[in-house]
Amino acid sequence: MFMAQQSKIDFKQILDHSHIANPYPLYEQFRETPVALQEDGSYVVSTYNEVVALLHDPRVSSDMRKSAAQQRAMQQAEQKRAQMKAQGQPVTEPEEIVPPFIFQDPPNHDRLRRIVMSQFTPERIENMGSHIDQIVKEHLDKHAQGGQIDIVDDLAYPLPVTVICQLLGVPREDEVRFHAWAELLATVLDPGQVQSEEQQKQIMDASMQIREYMGQLLQKLKEHPDDSMLSGMMQADDVDGAMSPRELISTAILLLIAGHETTVNLITNGTLAMVRSPELLEHLRQDPDLIITYVEELLRYDPPVHFRTRTALADITIAGTTIPKGATIILVLASGSHDDQRFERPEEFIPNRQDNEHLGFGSGIHYCVGAPLARIEAHIALGELSRRLIEPTLAVDPPPYRDNAALRGPRHLSINFKGLK
Ligand code: HEM
Repeated sequence: MFMAQQSKIDFKQILDHSHIANPYPLYEQFRETPVALQEDGSYVVSTYNEVVALLHDPRVSSDMRKSAAQQRAMQQAEQKRAQMKAQGQPVTEPEEIVPPFIFQDPPNHDRLRRIVMSQFTPERIENMGSHIDQIVKEHLDKHAQGGQIDIVDDLAYPLPVTVICQLLGVPREDEVRFHAWAELLATVLDPGQVQSEEQQKQIMDASMQIREYMGQLLQKLKEHPDDSMLSGMMQADDVDGAMSPRELISTAILLLIAGHETTVNLITNGTLAMVRSPELLEHLRQDPDLIITYVEELLRYDPPVHFRTRTALADITIAGTTIPKGATIILVLASGSHDDQRFERPEEFIPNRQDNEHLGFGSGIHYCVGAPLARIEAHIALGELSRRLIEPTLAVDPPPYRDNAALRGPRHLSINFKGLK
C-alpha cells in the first residue's frame, strides 16, 4: 500500500467563489500532486492521464450511494428513524428515488443509456440545425440597433432551453416553472454547494416538484404519443428491458437539465473569449470554418464542466497513491485539459489546435450523450455572433460568475456594441 500524499492546497479553495473567475492557477498547483488526499478523506485527481485512467476504471463508481460517507449518512438516518419508531413518534419512510443514469453503474447505466441513444439519433440532431439557426437569428435581430446585450439572458440561456424542450417534447412555456428547479438541482453536482439544512430542503423540494411535473407530462404523452424523444423513449424496448415509469422520469429530468445548464456556459465562455481578443474575433471573421476547432479549444481551455465525483469500489493504486475502497474521488476534468504533460502550451488559447483530446465532455462510459447537439448549438451561435457583432466590448471584465464551481460560467455577460451586420 502506498502512502497518500496530502495536497499543498485545499480543494475548498477551488470551491471558494473568489477563485471562480480564474481557477486555472490553482489547478496548476494541484497537478504537482496528481492524486491528493484532502482533510475530509476525499481524493482530488488533477492530471490528464490519471483522470482518464479512472474514468475508464470499472472499480470506479458513479453511484453516489456507494460512497462511505453516503453509506454512513444513510445508516444514521435509519438509526434515527428506528429510535423515533421505538418512542412511538410518527416516521415517514424516505421515498425511493431512481437516480438518473449519470449516477448509475453498468449494467443498468448501459441499458438506460442505450435507450436514450436510440432516440438521440444523428438525423434528429441534424434536423435541428436550421431550427437552431432561426432561433439564434430571432434573438440577435432584436438587438439590431446595438447598445448593450446580455449574452446569457438574451441568447446563451434561451437557445439551449428552446432546443432541448423541442427535442424532448416539453412545452417551452413551462420554462418559467422548471428554471428555478433546474438551477437548484444543478448545484448537487458541486460538493461545495449543499451546506445548510435549509439548502438541502430546497433541493429536496425542487426535486419533488420537478418529478411531479415530469410525471404529469409523461402521463399526457402516454395518452397522446407524438414524435418527440420522450415519447420515443417511452415506447422503446431494449434487450435488457424497457424504461420503468420512474426511470423515465429521472432520465427526462437529467436530459432537460444537462441539455441547457451546460451549453449556456459554452456559448457564454466562447463569446467572452472572442470579445476579449479583437485579434481572435478578426481571425474567426476571416475564416468562418475555424469555428469547429475554436469550440473544441473552448471545451479544453475554458470548459463548462470542471469536475465530476466518483467512489472507489476497491483499493485503487494510481500515481503512487492508494485510494481506499469507499473514498470519494474528485476528477478535475478542467485541470486534466490544462496538463502540460498532455497538451503543448496548455495555458494558451490556440483556436486551430489540432491535437485536442480534451476532457470537456468526459471520457469512457459516461461520455456526454449530448455532445453532438451542444457542438451544433455552439457552432451556430458563436459563428453568428463573431460574424455580426459590430465593435463589441465587454461592459464588465471579469463578468459576474454563477456560484457553482462544478458547472462553471458567467451569470451575465454584458456586451456593448455598435449594431449588427
Ligand atoms: C455527461 C459535459 C451538453 C446530456 C456529460 C459529462 C460531461 C458533460 C463532462 C460526463 C459526466 C461524467 O463522466 O460523470 C457537457 C457539456 C455540455 C453538455 C460541456 C455542453 C457544452 C449536454 C447536452 C445534453 C447532455 C446538450 C443532453 C441533451 C448528458 C448526459 C450525460 C452527460 C445524459 C450522462 C451520460 C452517461 O452517464 O452515460 N456531459 N454536456 N449534455 N451529458 Fe453532457
